[in-house]
Amino acid sequence: MKKTLLFISFIIIFILSLTPFIFKNNHTTTKNNNQNYDALLKSNNFNLSLKDEYFKTYDTLKNDLNNNYNITTLTLNKINYPNFLSAYNDTKQYLIINNIPLVNRIYGLDKDFIPSNLVSVENVDYIKRDNEIMLLNKEALNAYQQLYNVAKTKNINLTIFSAYRSYEKQATLWGESLDPNNKFLALPGHSEHQTGLAIDVSTREIGLTNHLFNTKVFQFLKQNAHKFGFIIRYPENKSNITGYFQEAWHLRYVGDIAEEIYNSNLCLEEYLYYNYEIPIFL
Ligand code: DAL
Ligand code: ZN
Repeated sequence: MKKTLLFISFIIIFILSLTPFIFKNNHTTTKNNNQNYDALLKSNNFNLSLKDEYFKTYDTLKNDLNNNYNITTLTLNKINYPNFLSAYNDTKQYLIINNIPLVNRIYGLDKDFIPSNLVSVENVDYIKRDNEIMLLNKEALNAYQQLYNVAKTKNINLTIFSAYRSYEKQATLWGESLDPNNKFLALPGHSEHQTGLAIDVSTREIGLTNHLFNTKVFQFLKQNAHKFGFIIRYPENKSNITGYFQEAWHLRYVGDIAEEIYNSNLCLEEYLYYNYEIPIFL
């Protein structure tokens, strides 16, 4: 009897001595997860009622070893804005993400939105139309003037066909009836031209035609626009995200991040989605 008791005590002590090892792994995982979730929990864009979805997505992304993006940012965006990268959705007020205005099929500008910092286009070639002064964002114009001068040194004579367009101007381009599925022309309020940050650029000879794709002019724009803060806004193979067929001539001024966007092969929507938390309460 004494021996049996001793034996049982020994077994109990043995098992107890193992418990720290048995639970160690689990404990570490939970602790690590909590630390990882910390960034999620602290974010302004964290919505407590969606907690479980965030954690699940976070863990899934974490297990994806090929993931090069900030997992916390991506988790928040995926849950808060599951349809952000799909061109067809409800329309909303335009977003400014990290000082970058985003205007597209979803995010639109009010009828009476007129950007500040518009200046008359000068010192570059542009198409003059009756009763119209061509306007562009001041910073974008400065940057474009440099691009224009570099192009000249390569015997490329760039011309701006269109810069700032008011809501009304965009509406007149449509004429009688609007087609929400049109993949060439944005609906009034949804054109980047209304921000004053977009220009349509080609040469007078080529004009705004798809022929531009096969020319050295487009090669020049493609290889140099980003050095001056511009991106080719509607690139090849991104129509399902941008909502528009590729446009060789439409340049969008984004400033410093143009280099990064150029190197990443992402369109603007993707770049913003992968790099910045999209604010939930806008
Ligand atoms: N062509 C572009 C999409 C615009 O109308 O703004
Ligand atoms: Zn355009």
